[in-house]
Amino acid sequence: MATASVLRRRQFLRVDYAARALFAGEARSTLIACAMLRRFSPARSYSFVTTPIFYVNAAPHIGHVYSVVMADALHRWNAMHDRKPAIFSTGTDEHGLKVQEAAAARKIQPAEFCTQVSQKFQSLFLDCDVSYTDYIRTTENRHLKVVDHCWSRLVDGGFIYKGAYEGWYVISDEMFVSNSQVKEVRTNEGKVQTVSIESGNVAEWTQESNYMFKLTHFRDDLLHWLNTPGAVHPTTYIPIVKKWIDESLTDLSVSRTRERLQWGIPVPNDPSQTIYVWLDALINYLTVAGYPRESFLWPPTHQIVGKDILKFHAIYWPAFLIALGLDPPQSIVTHAHWTRNRTKMSKSKGNVVDPVSELKRYGVSALRYYLLKEGSLYHDGDYSDERMVAALNGDLADTLGNLLHRCTSPKVNPSMKIPRYPGNRISHLDQEMIDTLNRSCDSIIEHFNRVEFNHGLVEIFAFLHQANRFIEQNRPWDLVKDPAAKSRLDAVLSVTLETLRIAGILLQPIVPSAANRLLNQLRIPEEKRKVSNATVCILNEESCYDSELLLGKSEGVLFEKI
Ligand code: ME8
Ligand code: MG
Repeated sequence: MATASVLRRRQFLRVDYAARALFAGEARSTLIACAMLRRFSPARSYSFVTTPIFYVNAAPHIGHVYSVVMADALHRWNAMHDRKPAIFSTGTDEHGLKVQEAAAARKIQPAEFCTQVSQKFQSLFLDCDVSYTDYIRTTENRHLKVVDHCWSRLVDGGFIYKGAYEGWYVISDEMFVSNSQVKEVRTNEGKVQTVSIESGNVAEWTQESNYMFKLTHFRDDLLHWLNTPGAVHPTTYIPIVKKWIDESLTDLSVSRTRERLQWGIPVPNDPSQTIYVWLDALINYLTVAGYPRESFLWPPTHQIVGKDILKFHAIYWPAFLIALGLDPPQSIVTHAHWTRNRTKMSKSKGNVVDPVSELKRYGVSALRYYLLKEGSLYHDGDYSDERMVAALNGDLADTLGNLLHRCTSPKVNPSMKIPRYPGNRISHLDQEMIDTLNRSCDSIIEHFNRVEFNHGLVEIFAFLHQANRFIEQNRPWDLVKDPAAKSRLDAVLSVTLETLRIAGILLQPIVPSAANRLLNQLRIPEEKRKVSNATVCILNEESCYDSELLLGKSEGVLFEKI
C-alpha cells in the first residue's frame, strides 16, 4: 500500500517535472508544464499492470508465459489490497520488419498471419488463468489513432526532426546498435557475419533518411526519473540504465523508409516513411489507458518487462512520455530470463519450451507455481522437467494437498467441523506454529509487494512443512480415538486449518483456481480473502470462517501427482 510519504514524493515528482519544464523557458517545455499542471491531482491508490506485447513472428513460449503470469499474479495481489480501478493489459506487437519477414517466409498475408498467431497467444493466456482486462493488438484501429495522435504531438512539440540514419540494425531485436555493440563472427559455413554482442542476432548495415527523435534532450529528465524510488525495480538494474545513458545516448531514429518496411503505421503526412515499431509498440500502454480521452488512467503502476527490453522501457519510453507531457511510469518491474541448458530461450534460437504441451502434461497450477517459484527478477532460471515434477509432486501435492487431507479426512475429522480453538490457554506447540505463521505472513506480504513471488513462496512452503511436522508430532489419528483428548484434537485441527486458510489466501495470486477450491472447502467468505485476512485469527472473538464452521464438500484431490 502506498504510504503517505510515497504519495507525497509522487506529487512532488509531478510538480517537479512541471517546474523544471517551466524554468527551461522554452515554448515546448511550457506546453509540457501546462499539460502536467492541468492533470495534477492527488495521487490515488490504484492498480495498472502491463506486460510487454509480444511479437507474433512465432508461437508463444515459456518466457512469454512467465511475464504474463507474473503480471497476473501482481494484478490479483493488488486487487486483494483493494487497489482500484484495475487495468491489466497484455497483447501482441504486430508491426515491423521481423513480422513482415516471418509472414513473407510463410507466404501468408501479414494481417492474416498476425491474427493466427495473436489468437494462439490469447487462448494460451486464457488457459493459464490470466485475468487480463484488455488484450491489445497493435493492428487495431483504436491503436492506430493513438499512435497518429502521439506522432503529431511529438512533431508539434519540436521533438521530431528529419535526419539521416547510418548504422547497424538488428531485425530480430528490432533495434539500432552502435559499432561498439556489434562483433564479427564466422558462421558454420565459414562466412563472416556481424552480430549484436548482446543478443547474438545478425546486424545489418543500413543507411536511410529517417525521422529522428530528440532523445538526447531528455538526459537530465531520465536521470531524475531514475532516482525516484521504484522507477526501475529491482534497483540492481539502475546502474545498467545509467551506464547506457552516460555512454550511448544518441537521438533515436523513429521511422523506416516505406520501401523497406511496409508493414507498419505510415508517418502522418509522409507516406514514404513508416513509424518505427518500438514507438508504435510502446504507445500500446497509452491506448489501453484510454489516452487521449479526458479522464484516462495514468501512469501505469507496474510495467513488467524482461531484462532484454529494459532499454526500451527505461530510456525510450519515459522520454517519449515526458515529451508528450505525461508522467513516466511508476515502476518498470524487470525480470531475468528463462534459459534451456543455460542459453536464453528465444524464438529466434529455437530452443524454446512449448507452454501448450507443458499445460497438458502438468496442468495450470503446476505451471504457474513452478514459473513463479523458480523464476526471479534477479537470476536466470534454467527450465527443467525434474524441477517441474518436484514442484508439483513435492510441494503442491505432498506438502499442501497432503496437509489438507490430513485435517479434513473423516478419519481424523469425523464430524467435518472447523473447530474453534478450545479455551484460551495455548499449548507451547500451538504457540510455536502460530508465531511462525504471523512472522511469515508479514514477510511474505513484503515479498509479494516487491513482486518477489519466488521469495514469498519459499516461506509459504516452509510454514506448510512445519505444519506437516506439527501434525506428525500431535498424531490426530490417535487423538480421535480417545474421547478425553477431544479438546486437544480440536486445538490441533484448528491450528492446522488456520495454516491452510492463510496459505490459501496467500496462494490466490499464484494458483487462483486451486486456492479458490481450498478456500471454498474451508468456507472462507469472499470478503475474507484479502491481504488483511492473512493473519492468525483463531484466537479472535470474530471468526474468519463462515459461521456454520462446517467444512465444505471436497471436490477431489487438490493436486494430481504425476
Ligand atoms: O520484445 N525468459 O517482444 P518479444 C523470460 N514486442 N522472459 C522472456 C523470455 C525468456 N527467455 N523470452 C521472452 C518484444 N520473454 C516486443 C515488446 S513491449 C512495448 C514490446 C518475455 O516477443 C519477456 O517479457 O520478443 C521479454 O521482455 C518479452 O517476452 C519479449 O517478447
Ligand atoms: Mg524478443
